[in-house]
Amino acid sequence: MRIWTPDSWRDFPAAQQPLYPDAVALRRVEASLGGMPPLVSIGEIDALREQLGQASRGAAFLLQGGDCAESFSQFSADGIRDLYKVLMQMAVVLAYAGSMPVIKVSRLAGQFAKPRSADHEERNGVRLPSYRGDIINDIAFTSEGRRPDPQRMLQAYHQSTATMNLVRAFSQGGLADLQKVSEWNLDFASDSAINERYQSMAQEILRALRFMQVCGVNSNNTPSLHETHLYTSHEALLLNYEQSLLQVAEDGRHYCGSAHMLWIGERTRQLDGAHVEFLRGVANPIGVKVSDKIGDEDLIKLVTALNPNNEAGRLTLISRMGADKVEAGLPRLVEAITREGLQVVWSCDPMHGNTKSASNGMKTRSFDAVSSEIMSFFRILRQAAAIPGGVHLEMTGAHVTECVGGAYQVTEEDLAQCYTTQCDPRLNAQQVLELAFALAAEIHR
Ligand code: PEP
Ligand code: CO
Repeated sequence: MRIWTPDSWRDFPAAQQPLYPDAVALRRVEASLGGMPPLVSIGEIDALREQLGQASRGAAFLLQGGDCAESFSQFSADGIRDLYKVLMQMAVVLAYAGSMPVIKVSRLAGQFAKPRSADHEERNGVRLPSYRGDIINDIAFTSEGRRPDPQRMLQAYHQSTATMNLVRAFSQGGLADLQKVSEWNLDFASDSAINERYQSMAQEILRALRFMQVCGVNSNNTPSLHETHLYTSHEALLLNYEQSLLQVAEDGRHYCGSAHMLWIGERTRQLDGAHVEFLRGVANPIGVKVSDKIGDEDLIKLVTALNPNNEAGRLTLISRMGADKVEAGLPRLVEAITREGLQVVWSCDPMHGNTKSASNGMKTRSFDAVSSEIMSFFRILRQAAAIPGGVHLEMTGAHVTECVGGAYQVTEEDLAQCYTTQCDPRLNAQQVLELAFALAAEIHR
C-alpha cells in the first residue's frame, strides 16, 4: 500500500469537487483554516470509536441524524435546540423502550457540502454550475451565486464552532438532564397519541429517577443523569476543508478536527478515488454509504482499505438501498462481510434510497417506505446472524411537511405548507418519535 500523507489524496481523482476559479485565494483560505483550532478533541474521537466498537458487538446502538444540509441562512439557536431535543427524545425512547445504550451522533456543525447528480443545472435555457452546499456556493441561481468561493469554508467553520459551542452547553448545562425528559417533546402536536405515549414513558422515567434518588443515586454522584455527549458528523466531501483541519496526535496519528465522525458518500466511495485515500489515513471513526450498486468483492476491498487492522468501531457501513431494493441488495453484502470476519457497525440510512417526486414535483419520502426499509434491514441482519447496529436519518426538530405519511398524516397536498429543507426532505419531530417507538420495539425483540 502507498504511503499516506495529509495531501496524498491530491494525486487521486476526486469526484464531486468544485472548480475554484482562484487557486491563490483557495490556498490562502486553506492556510488560514490550518491555523484555527479543531472543533473536537482527540480524546472525544477515541471515546466515540470505542463506543462504536460496542455497537458492532450489539452492546450499544448508533443514532445518527440531522439536516440533509446545514445552511448559512437558516442558522439559528432555536433550530439547533430543536434538533438537539428531538435527538434526545429519540435516544431516550430507544434506550428506555429498547433497553440499549444509545450513541448519539448528529449531522451538525459541518454538514454543508453536497454531492450532486449533475455538475450543471439548466433553467429557461440558462446553464449554471449546480449548487453544492453553502460551504461551496450559493443556492441562488445566478452566475455570481453559483461561483465556488473558498471564503465560504471560513464561514462554515465559524458557524460550526458556534454550533458546537451551543451543543456543548446543552450537553453539560442542563438541557440533557434526564429530569427534563418531558420537556424534550416538541409541542406542535401535543395532543397526538404518539405524544401521549411519550409523556407516559417520561413519567415512568421520572418515577424511576425518584426511586433511584431515594436509593442514593443522584446527579451529584452519577453525572450521566444530567449530562451527555452529542457527537458530530458530516460527509467528508470537501477535502480542502478536511485536510486544513487535520490535527496530529502525540503518537503521530492524524485526526480530522472538523467532527468526531466522518462519512464517505455513495458517490465518492471509489476505491481508487481521493476520498478513500484521504480517509484511510485519519484515525476518526469513518462511515461509508453503500447502495445495492456495490459488488461484494469491491465492498471487501473498500472495507479492507479503510480498516486494514480490522478494528471494531473504526468503520460503519451505512446501507442506503431503498425499501424496494434492500431485500435483494443487502443479504449478499452482509454475508460477504461476515464470511471475511470483518468488524463493522451495520447502520441503515432509510432516507436516500427512498426519495421520490410527489405529483406536484416536490421531492419527498414516504414514512412507510422509511420504516419498511428499517424493518427489512433488521430482519436481514438478524437472519444472517449479524448485528443491526444503528440508523442514519435526515430529521429536524422544526415543524416541517417534507416527508409524507406517519400518524400525523402529511399528504402530498400538505408538502407546500412548510417545506424549508435546503436539500433533501427530512422527517419532522412527530415522524421521528413515531419511528423511535417502532425501532425500540425492534431493538428490544
Ligand atoms: C447524504 O447523506 O446527504 C447523502 C448525499 O447521502 P448518499 O451519499 O447516501 O447519497
Ligand atoms: Co440528503
